[in-house]
Amino acid sequence: MIIPRDVLLEIAREFDIPEAAALVQRRTIHAGTAADHAVVDRVFDIARGSEGLALRSVARWRSYLTTMHFKFYDVWNHLRHARRDRVSPAFQTGSGGEVYVSTDPYAALPIAASLYHLDSWGIPGDAIECGCFKGVSAAMLSWACKFLGRKLWIADSFRGLPAVTSPGEAHYKTGDYGGSLDEVRRRIRTFGCEDVVGYIPGYFEESLPFVRERFALVWADVDLESSMDSVLAWLMPRLDPDGAFFSDEVPAASFRGSTIRADATSVPRAIREYFAAQGIPIPGRHLIHNVAAFARDPRGALFLTRDRVEALLLQVSAPRTRAKTA
Ligand SMILES: C[S@@+](CC[C@H](N)C(=O)[O-])C[C@H]1O[C@@H](n2cnc3c(N)ncnc32)[C@H](O)[C@@H]1O
Repeated sequence: MIIPRDVLLEIAREFDIPEAAALVQRRTIHAGTAADHAVVDRVFDIARGSEGLALRSVARWRSYLTTMHFKFYDVWNHLRHARRDRVSPAFQTGSGGEVYVSTDPYAALPIAASLYHLDSWGIPGDAIECGCFKGVSAAMLSWACKFLGRKLWIADSFRGLPAVTSPGEAHYKTGDYGGSLDEVRRRIRTFGCEDVVGYIPGYFEESLPFVRERFALVWADVDLESSMDSVLAWLMPRLDPDGAFFSDEVPAASFRGSTIRADATSVPRAIREYFAAQGIPIPGRHLIHNVAAFARDPRGALFLTRDRVEALLLQVSAPRTRAKTA
């Protein structure tokens, strides 16, 4: 559901839209009928307009998204520079040794938006990031977790990628994207919210089997198929049935609407095999860059795409000053 529960309820009441209240009654987190979509679109239009802002729930929602937007830019501006020698030449860009390989604020915001929705619908559990490199997306998402009072787990080897065994992944090499635990901790302490963060160090294959927490949101930026296999095998069973899974390895061309195209070889094998084993079409949505969101429920879930998130951001303008009269 792209509309937080409290927003749906308040707009239903204030604008007398019983169909919107009915969505709450039916606990419609997942994609519904075309009629449901029309109701959602109507509610969304009210929320994004000026009349919506007078409502408490809308003001809180939009203020959260706007706060995260600025926080994430702040983190990104400080931390996006990674050292060239720690990243495969295939991914090196920029001049003077800087490479922009980290998750950017455009990608982190829809993930944070989703956490807000899950929270409003009472979906229990922590959030977890698998694959933090030097802690950029982790620092961003720690702000979202702080705001919502959720814990953020960060799972990583803290020594970069493990041995690369698949010939199709030869552009990566062992140790790529390495950030030490100390380095990540320092960055989270300086630019994020350390008090909501917990660390799960180790290669996923060794660390994730011992994870006992339950999750509302799993975010995986892990590059390798074998790493994705481990994340899905160990964390999907711990993800709430109404929770959301995000991957950084799924290009836009992989989707037709809210399901993966049958012929989409661009989707990681691990993801295709995981959903095939569940016997359901892959219920997901492309969000931005290579970031896609997936539901566990075969009906799929609606996720806020970047343009919709941005339509909700509050405009900040300088206060008008009166011209001085002599
Ligand atoms: C592309 S980076 C993540 C970038 C990060 N999201 C950011 O914002 O900068 C991939 C990360 O996945 C981690 N990783 C990949 N496979 C892993 C595995 N099997 N076990 C532990 N960590 C792994 C690497 O150590 C690396 O930190």
